[in-house]
Amino acid sequence: MKRTIRDLKNIEGKRILLRCDFNVPLDNYGDILDATRIISAMPTISYLLKRKAKLIVCSHLGRPNGYDKYLSLFPVAVFLMKYFPNKVKFCPKVVGPEVTAAVEKLGDGEILVLENLRFKKGEEENDAEFVAQLSALADIYVDDAFGVTHRKHASNYGVALKMPSAIGFLIEKELKVFDKAFQSTQHPFVAIFGGAKVADKLKLINNVMDKADAIIIGGGMAYTFLQAQGKNIGNSIVSLDQIDEAKKVLETAKEKGIEILLPVDHIAYIKEKDKAVKTVALEKGMAGFDIGPKTIALFTEKIMKAKQIVWNGPLGKYEDARFKKGTMKIAKAVAKSGAYSIVGGGDSVSAVNASGVAEKINHLSTGGGASLKLMEGKILPAIEVIDTL
Ligand code: 3PG
Repeated sequence: MKRTIRDLKNIEGKRILLRCDFNVPLDNYGDILDATRIISAMPTISYLLKRKAKLIVCSHLGRPNGYDKYLSLFPVAVFLMKYFPNKVKFCPKVVGPEVTAAVEKLGDGEILVLENLRFKKGEEENDAEFVAQLSALADIYVDDAFGVTHRKHASNYGVALKMPSAIGFLIEKELKVFDKAFQSTQHPFVAIFGGAKVADKLKLINNVMDKADAIIIGGGMAYTFLQAQGKNIGNSIVSLDQIDEAKKVLETAKEKGIEILLPVDHIAYIKEKDKAVKTVALEKGMAGFDIGPKTIALFTEKIMKAKQIVWNGPLGKYEDARFKKGTMKIAKAVAKSGAYSIVGGGDSVSAVNASGVAEKINHLSTGGGASLKLMEGKILPAIEVIDTL
């Protein structure tokens, strides 16, 4: 059994490096569009603060390539400041003398939020020097970043191997839910995939092939599949290097008798005219940004028959009002289906929240890729390295 924060005794005045997943959607002004992931970490933060630990909180945000002012964790620190007035400080650095000095000044029961971990190359490379710098900041490491537990990065995998460690309440809860759900999969089991990260999602689709009866594919990734089927996709987003992989997925599904449902019509964006149109055929100049009404009906019919559903990734560019209908309708269908439903991934969870049916979903997971790895029965490396009792 993994050590949890309940097992940490006498932590008053101890420096705790708390890894959270604050990879939240932001708008162009740096406003947080959905704070689910921050709020989900609150039980752990509050518990450790009440016991007067000194909290050094770190997270990634997005996938920056070096410093990117639009991906600063400052808005997250401001959010925390509202929850914990006069207790939160922000350091615009990830490691280095400024961070060390800020940690030294940190009082018991206070929080120091560090800048986006991924501004440093060493984070994703699990670089030994970066691991050493991070682990030197604290006495104990606590991981509550469920969404990134499938990654072997410096701030989770690396530091956990270096220092006494424990998991927080969020990871503990996520593990319990998935364990219960996937020990007894109910059929028909429908997996819904969307979003634009095609390469990641292709792996995930392969992962659910052994369990799913039907796989619904929408969002940006659907166009790589449609192209793989030889369909005309106009100017829609496509990952040409993934076409062969998409073809393989379609073939494997056919062999295994798994139904794959793809969009049959679209809400397309015509850039030249800055206009959204409903269409079955995607012509030159048109880019599919949402699923159309026929597709909504097709997907809904399948969803209504499901007994268990997992959903990862929005079905269109839902953050733009012109292209959100598909995702919202599918969220409502999932809620109405009565199936045991798990929605995973930052964007999908914020879409469900926006659709107003969040309370009808059985579990809103803070993990996208991580939750799918769990479903597959795979070990999450960042959890594997946490101390056991
Ligand atoms: C997520 O959004 O699923 C997690 O925050 C992990 O992000 P990543 O896929 O960029 O590693």
